[in-house]
Amino acid sequence: MSADTQQTLVLIKPDAVQRGLIGPIITRLEARGLKIAAMKTLRMDGEMAARHYGAHKERPFFQGLVEFITSGPIVAMTLEGPNAVDVTRRTMGSTNPAEAAPGTIRGDLAVDVLHNLIHGSDSPETAAKETAFFFNPGEILDYTRSIEPWITES
Ligand code: RTP
Ligand code: MG
Repeated sequence: MSADTQQTLVLIKPDAVQRGLIGPIITRLEARGLKIAAMKTLRMDGEMAARHYGAHKERPFFQGLVEFITSGPIVAMTLEGPNAVDVTRRTMGSTNPAEAAPGTIRGDLAVDVLHNLIHGSDSPETAAKETAFFFNPGEILDYTRSIEPWITES
């Protein structure tokens, strides 16, 4: 990985899975140039959800968030690319879709702060922890795409 290459952990949330938006969301992230290093479907249980969203456990929306994220299958992905953490969050748009810019995933496809389709790690440190939480090291693939020189300078 070159100096600015990062990994980030993305979850396609239960609302997106139920609405048939797995494909459109992955298409946007791939089209941005991000590389899928790992991907799986799973259903989080309460314990996993409480750990993943532990930073929010005192917030009034915590219980509803845990109920929502465990309500159905999700897709977990590790994405890789230059500044992948920020690039992914900018592609996702603001947390509240009502305030998210058009052209972003949330700004184009959602209206409600809980049902906001996608999670992305908020820092490289969080990304490393979240990736280790969802994937074994052997599930994260190190490979080069032949299109790489058309996406980045390196
Ligand atoms: P995420 O962690 O899911 O990527 O989203 P985020 O960084 O943009 O937002 P964060 O502040 O970490 O909040 C986590 C999730 O909690 C729900 N939420 N509800 N009702 C509310 O005011 C409220 N605020 C946040 C959202 O589903 C948000 O993605
Ligand atoms: Mg967050």
